[in-house]
Amino acid sequence: MLKTSVLLACLAFSTIAADGNYFQVLIREIDNPAGTLKNGQPCSNFGFLGAGCNTYMKAVATASGTNLSDINLPDAVQINKNMETRVSNLNFVVSDGYLDSVDAFTGFDLRVRLATESNFINIIDDYIIHVSSNQEQGVYTYTNLRDGTLPTTISIAWSTNIAPQSTTATPEPTTTGVPFTGSTAVPTTTPKPPVDCSEVVNVTTGVQTIYPDGMTPVSVYCDQTSYGTYTVIQSRGTTGQNISFDFPSVSNYSAAFGDPGKGNNYWFGLDNMHALNGVKPYALQIDLCCGTKLIAKQIYHNFMVDTAANNYKLTATADISGVGLDYASSGKDLAAQFSTFTEWHGKSKGTCDQFEFYDDAADIGPSVAYGGWWYGSCGNNLNGFLYPSRALNCTVPLEIFDQNKMLGVNMRTTPGQGPGGYDVDLQSYDRVRMALFTFDSTTIDRTDSSFCS
Ligand SMILES: *[C@@H]1O[C@H](CO)[C@@H](O)[C@H](O)[C@H]1NC(C)=O
Ligand SMILES: *[C@@H]1O[C@H](CO)[C@@H](O)[C@H](O)[C@H]1NC(C)=O
Ligand SMILES: *[C@@H]1O[C@H](CO)[C@@H](O)[C@H](O)[C@H]1NC(C)=O
Ligand SMILES: *[C@@H]1O[C@H](CO)[C@@H](O)[C@H](O)[C@H]1NC(C)=O
Ligand SMILES: *[C@@H]1O[C@H](CO)[C@@H](O)[C@H](O)[C@H]1NC(C)=O
Repeated sequence: MLKTSVLLACLAFSTIAADGNYFQVLIREIDNPAGTLKNGQPCSNFGFLGAGCNTYMKAVATASGTNLSDINLPDAVQINKNMETRVSNLNFVVSDGYLDSVDAFTGFDLRVRLATESNFINIIDDYIIHVSSNQEQGVYTYTNLRDGTLPTTISIAWSTNIAPQSTTATPEPTTTGVPFTGSTAVPTTTPKPPVDCSEVVNVTTGVQTIYPDGMTPVSVYCDQTSYGTYTVIQSRGTTGQNISFDFPSVSNYSAAFGDPGKGNNYWFGLDNMHALNGVKPYALQIDLCCGTKLIAKQIYHNFMVDTAANNYKLTATADISGVGLDYASSGKDLAAQFSTFTEWHGKSKGTCDQFEFYDDAADIGPSVAYGGWWYGSCGNNLNGFLYPSRALNCTVPLEIFDQNKMLGVNMRTTPGQGPGGYDVDLQSYDRVRMALFTFDSTTIDRTDSSFCS
């Protein structure tokens, strides 16, 4: 694996006058001499040195200290249009608007992502840089995912007028105005925070902290099996807290909620799912259990969740067609946007058999809506009402359904329409999970029911 060098020119404790406190990172130059994506593919049809990538950039900076907030660029910014291999004089400033009340500053983390389109599918590079305010100026290197292709470089400078937390005197400014451009200092390696469970050092089964967007910590359950590591992004069950999944707005599903854990009720958050797009090709595994019995293990390749602006549309390709998220009625969950009972994108409550199963039975009336999901077929809802198990029987008895008018936690395991020509199958599993993985799916033990017990 080739190393990518990051030129880091520090312009610390500068004496430039400003109103109040400030902390800013200047992204000065980006250099991709090979004009290739991270996976080695050329960006243009020319495919030779000197024909570069037209590039979109996203940057996020998080300063550490007290009373500092996250600093995010609003959206992807296009930084070149003419296949330049080097974007010099970029001079893009990432700064924090909430600095006035800051009283301490210990450093910052910067993540810069580069891709050829604003949807960040074709990634050129992904830099994660940590700088501590007492760190000397220098040239830093880190190892990234740029296998088998020429390295790229990024050059940044930073500036603050906030003194570090220290009992010793604030160092004299070493530079005023002119960015530092080089050093003979020995390069140091900046560890990359784990974006998923497979990157957690010496990962063991249990709750771990990962950084799906490279910056923001998220607690997640990691399952380390003999054939690979899973990052569990959704789980339902009767272990731990019985929490409601019945939120009214799509935005209520943007962030993580619940407690990660085996058999617990947990949601990783749609924004975190989206943050993993393009980082690696993720596959999704869904496990459905009734009691300790494994009912189905479904696998989907190239799992991706779109932006909030596109209502977190789900895309993936099914390992077995016609079941689960690929079950087809007038639509499929694969390619559906995320909806709730007050915010429908695609189908509506009145055309969704999850909520209209009884609409033909005049004496009972329509079912009650529960839980946000990618309602494309309306045959599935892993965020449905969690029914307590009834002696290892996950069929919802009609009298229970009559009483509650709510279907449960369900997912089609057979193709074709369900009972009475509806899309639903009247099962409610009492333990399910959605887990991401990046290893070869042919190594999976499809009979492994360890999650169910
Ligand atoms: C943050 O700022 C507020 C006022 O601006 C101040 O009251 C508070 O003590 C500060 N918090 C910390 C942890 O310094
Ligand atoms: C990970 O495991 C290796 C081998 O057992 C060990 O040398 C290393 O210190 C461990 N790293 C951490 C961070 O625990
Ligand atoms: C759900 O989202 C709405 C709109 O953003 C917000 O007002 C409400 O507080 C959220 N509800 C919960 C339970 O988080
Ligand atoms: C969870 O709580 C709801 C509301 O209190 C209750 O109706 C339901 O039976 C509970 N589910 C389980 C699995 O205990
Ligand atoms: C499960 O419950 C359904 C509905 O009550 C019933 O028809 C079925 O016979 C039960 N199955 C088993 C294996 O107990």
